[in-house]
Amino acid sequence: MSFRTVIEPFRIHSVEPIRLTTRAERLRAIEEAGMNLFALHADDVLIDLLTDSGTGAMSRDQWAAVQHGDESYAGSPSYFRFRGAVTRLFPFKHVIPTHQGRAAEKILFSALGSPGKTIFNNTHFDTTRANIEFTGAAAVDCVCAEGKVPSLVLPFKGNMDIDLLDARIREAGPENVPLVMVTVTNNSGGGQPVSLANLRAVRAVCDRYKLPLFLDACRFAENAWFIREREEGYADKPVADIVREMAALADGMTMSAKKDGLANIGGWLAMNDDALAERCRNMLILTEGFPTYGGLAGRDLEAIAQGLSEVVEHDYLRYRVRSTAYLADALTRAGVPVVQPAGGHAVYIDARGLLPHIPPLSYPGQALAVALYVEGGIRGCEIGTVMFGRHPDGTETPAAMDLVRLAIPRRTYTQSHIDYVIEVCLHVAKMAPELRGYRIAHEPPALRHFTARFAAL
Ligand SMILES: Cc1ncc(COP(=O)(O)O)c(C=O)c1O
Repeated sequence: MSFRTVIEPFRIHSVEPIRLTTRAERLRAIEEAGMNLFALHADDVLIDLLTDSGTGAMSRDQWAAVQHGDESYAGSPSYFRFRGAVTRLFPFKHVIPTHQGRAAEKILFSALGSPGKTIFNNTHFDTTRANIEFTGAAAVDCVCAEGKVPSLVLPFKGNMDIDLLDARIREAGPENVPLVMVTVTNNSGGGQPVSLANLRAVRAVCDRYKLPLFLDACRFAENAWFIREREEGYADKPVADIVREMAALADGMTMSAKKDGLANIGGWLAMNDDALAERCRNMLILTEGFPTYGGLAGRDLEAIAQGLSEVVEHDYLRYRVRSTAYLADALTRAGVPVVQPAGGHAVYIDARGLLPHIPPLSYPGQALAVALYVEGGIRGCEIGTVMFGRHPDGTETPAAMDLVRLAIPRRTYTQSHIDYVIEVCLHVAKMAPELRGYRIAHEPPALRHFTARFAAL
C-alpha cells in the first residue's frame, strides 16, 4: 500500500526556538538595515529562506562524526575519510578541501583566469562570476533560451545552449577559454536541473576544442534526482550511480559542501590535471591552509564525509524535492507567478511578473523581498537586477529575470512552517499593486547585493 503524503524521513531530535515579531518591529528592523535583508539580525527573522547554504540541520550521525574529528595539522585521518567520501561519488585524482565554494572558485580562477580569457557556464552563480571578473576574465552565460522563460514547464531548463556555447567559443577563440563550467542545478536560473544528455553534448563541444569541463556541483544530488525522475533510462538507477556518470563527463569540479554536502561549512576543488592541481595547492597553502585541511577543521571534514553518504539516499531526496514543489504548487494554484517547474532547493517568485508596474531598474525583486519580510517575517533573496544588473564598467542593465528566491534549508522547516509561508505570500500578492520600487542609495563596487542600502521610491 502506498500513501500520497511524502513525509519528512526523520524525526526531530533537538529543537531551536524561533522568535515571533510584530509588523512594527520588522519595519523598524528593515529600515535600520537600509532595506537590505542581508543586514538584518537573524533573530529578527521568523522563517529564514535567504539561502539553503550552510543553513540545514545536520543529522545525529553527522554530529557523532564531528566527535571523530582529528585535528592533526597534516595527514589527518579525517581528511582521508573526507577524500574517500568525495571520490566515491566524484572519482577525481586530486581533492583539495576549501572552507567553502567561493574559496575553491578563487583558487581555480587565480590559476586560470586573466584579462582576455572567457569562461562559459550555463549561468554563473554570483560568487563564480565575481571571482572570474576579479581576474580580468569575462564570465559568459549560455543557458538554453527556455531557461529564461519562468512560466515554461520543461524538465531540464538548466541545460546549456550547445549551439550558442560552440559559437561563443569560436568567437572568443578556444585558446582564450581556459575551461567551460556547468552549474548543477542552475541556482541563478531557478534551481533548474541539467540533463545527462546535455552534459554529454557539452563534453563533446569541450572535446572538439580540447577544453576542460568543470562542474559547479553544489546541488549535484538534487540534479541527479531530477535526472532519475525525468530523463529516459534513469528511473531505476541509484542516484549515486547517476552522480558518478555526471562526474565521469567532467575534468574537475568546484563544490560548496554547505549545500549537498549537508554541512554548515566546507567545500572543495577537485580535478584530474596534475599540473593544475599543483598550482591550486600552492595557492591553497597561501590562502586556506595545508592541503589536508584547507581551511576546515577535522570535525568539519568528518561532517561532510557523513553528509555525502546521506545526501544520495532516495527517501531523503524524494522528500527534499517534493517539499520544495509543495510550496511552488500552492503558489501556482493561487495565481502567484513562480519559475516553473519548481527547482530542487528553492522556489523562485517571478517578481517582474507579479509587479509589472515596477520597472526592472527600480528593483521589483527587492520590493517583493522587503514586503515578505515586513508582512510575515520571511526572509527571501532578490535574484535579479540588484544581484546581476551592475557591470564591471559601472553601467547597469536589467537582469534576464527579476526573481525572489525562497530557498529551503535542508531538513530544517516542517510542513506547517511552509503553510505559513504560503499564507504570507498570498497576502503580499494581494497587496502587489500598492508596492513601490527602490533606488540604491549606496553600493560597493562588486557583489553589491550583500551590502547595498536602498531608499524607497
Ligand atoms: C551554484 C553556486 N555556486 C557557488 C556557490 C558559492 O558557494 P559558497 O557560498 O559556499 O561560497 C553557491 C552558493 O550559494 C552556489 O549556489
